[in-house]
Amino acid sequence: MSPVAIDGEPIPVHRRTIALVGLMGVGKSTVGRRLAKRLGLPFADGDIEIEAAAGMTVSDIFARLGEAEFRAGEARVLKRLLGGPRMVLATGGGAVLNEETRAMLKTRAVTVWMRADLKTVVARVQRRDTRPLLRGRDPLEALKAMAEVRYPFYAAADLTVDVTGGAHAEAVDAIVRALESHWAGAEA
Ligand code: S3P
Repeated sequence: MSPVAIDGEPIPVHRRTIALVGLMGVGKSTVGRRLAKRLGLPFADGDIEIEAAAGMTVSDIFARLGEAEFRAGEARVLKRLLGGPRMVLATGGGAVLNEETRAMLKTRAVTVWMRADLKTVVARVQRRDTRPLLRGRDPLEALKAMAEVRYPFYAAADLTVDVTGGAHAEAVDAIVRALESHWAGAEA
């Protein structure tokens, strides 16, 4: 069997990329990097790949080109990553807004929704000022509005792992446990 499935054809669960989805600030990048190490898989961070492709930071892309251009670039980058070899992939919080990305996630990845209560997320996003969608806004209000639009998409993930209040190491453990039972279920 060829290692890469024909575009659109679902690939077996054990050979799928593990894609972390969820709001900004839930820890997808840090947890994803640790999870990849634990599973012996390569890691990619959607935002870092977008920055490399554009030769600009995410903030500069938003400021100079606007959100629509950022989203188009994000979709292109995720299509490339999801079309490539198996990995752990941290997606940006808004990646699920794109229909084609959602379709690819469904056929090519095991998706894990890292869910945390909004207070935890607010505390985390306040540590850094790198998120253009929060600039000049009350973070709780902005995150609530995002949650309203995005939670229905995140909820379609194969697995949901609550990471509220937890340390990153605990989140990695919880995700590994959820993945192991998902893989076992696929064998049964
Ligand atoms: C965004 C989340 C960010 C980044 C961009 C937009 C969003 O990624 O892609 O600032 O729309 O939620 P993280 O979720 O990795 O912070």
